[in-house]
Amino acid sequence: MTRIPHVTPAEPNPLRALALDRLRRRTSMKWRTYPQDVLPLWVAEMDVPLAEPVVRAVTDAMELGDTGYPAGTAYAEALAAFAAARWGWEGLAVERTAIVPDVMLGVVEMLRLVTGPGDAVVVTPPVYPPFFQFVGHMDRRLCEAPLGPDLRLDLGALEETFRRAVAGGRPAAYLLCSPHNPTGTVHTAGELTAVAALAERYGVRVVADEIHAPLVVEGVDFVPYLSVPGGENGLSLMSASKGWNLAGLKAALAVAGPAAAADLARLPEEVSHGPSHVGVLAHTAALREGTAWLDALLAGLDDNRRLLAGLLAEQLPAIGYRPSEATYLAWLDCRALGLPDDPGQVFLERGRVALNSGTDFGTGGTGHVRLNLATSPEVITEAVRRMAKAMA
Ligand SMILES: Cc1ncc(COP(=O)(O)O)c(C=O)c1O
Repeated sequence: MTRIPHVTPAEPNPLRALALDRLRRRTSMKWRTYPQDVLPLWVAEMDVPLAEPVVRAVTDAMELGDTGYPAGTAYAEALAAFAAARWGWEGLAVERTAIVPDVMLGVVEMLRLVTGPGDAVVVTPPVYPPFFQFVGHMDRRLCEAPLGPDLRLDLGALEETFRRAVAGGRPAAYLLCSPHNPTGTVHTAGELTAVAALAERYGVRVVADEIHAPLVVEGVDFVPYLSVPGGENGLSLMSASKGWNLAGLKAALAVAGPAAAADLARLPEEVSHGPSHVGVLAHTAALREGTAWLDALLAGLDDNRRLLAGLLAEQLPAIGYRPSEATYLAWLDCRALGLPDDPGQVFLERGRVALNSGTDFGTGGTGHVRLNLATSPEVITEAVRRMAKAMA
């Protein structure tokens, strides 16, 4: 695949557009879970105004009263064009896609297609906490193959876990997070090809959550799982939701590789009733016309990663932080601070900064916190100041 350079942002940095008092008027989870004196740098919502094409698409729909049920394949077509232009991947076939309400409900439906009650689902912690909750609620057995100390996939651990998962000849699936939340790790083509080879050897089906795929830094290749040799029987979930901050406008896409088309065809028709038509319009507009906005965001996130690294080095040098290649999340190793297992509680109580507690991310999460960088440099600066004060 050929790497496509990002466009030089012609748009202003969206992370600098909104003042805190305006953000505090928002009524979503990020802004309404903690008291007003707490700086919220936790749940994956971004402090940005929406991309203009998204606002236009939704406003036009409101003016027209175009608020019925979704129809057609425009979202999938927009994603296919985006995948070709952005990642050099021409293999996303619109006829092998299905709209689903959101990525996590899509994950559940894909896991239902390839596993049954009591079968194993492999996860690679530390990983997005709802992986544990959703898989647990669907009566599947969770098997953990933790990331290595370099925060990359540990292929040895994965092989061992695949072996255990299929013991007795049972079906099993691997819920791959790509790029990986919370570490921001971008899996390489080599790693993903090795995953596909292991999956093939043990008969494990791969379901890839690729929601963070648009949020990869310039110069680093995002490799869609379905594009690697051996990935043909994989299933992927993609969405404009994280890249363009559209979680409240429900819509995502399930994508099947050529050898998984028959599985996706078994998806119950009623699943397609879940996504919102307005959500589909918004996501389609983002993918079709939102690239300049996305590139401006990515440039701003890059600045924020550098800013955070500098601030931590000055004020909290005991915290381990490796700026990641994807997502807007920073995974902070606080083990050297000598705090209890959940340092997030200390930063919240003493510092009035809300972060995600690493313990929620499973094995490897103890002593860590996840910080959301999708905010202004001023908020990041104030958050680190408060965190340092909490430790003083
Ligand atoms: C890896 C991952 N998957 C899924 C989601 C949630 O996506 P959705 O709201 O479309 O279910 C998130 C949200 O942060 C995420 O980080």
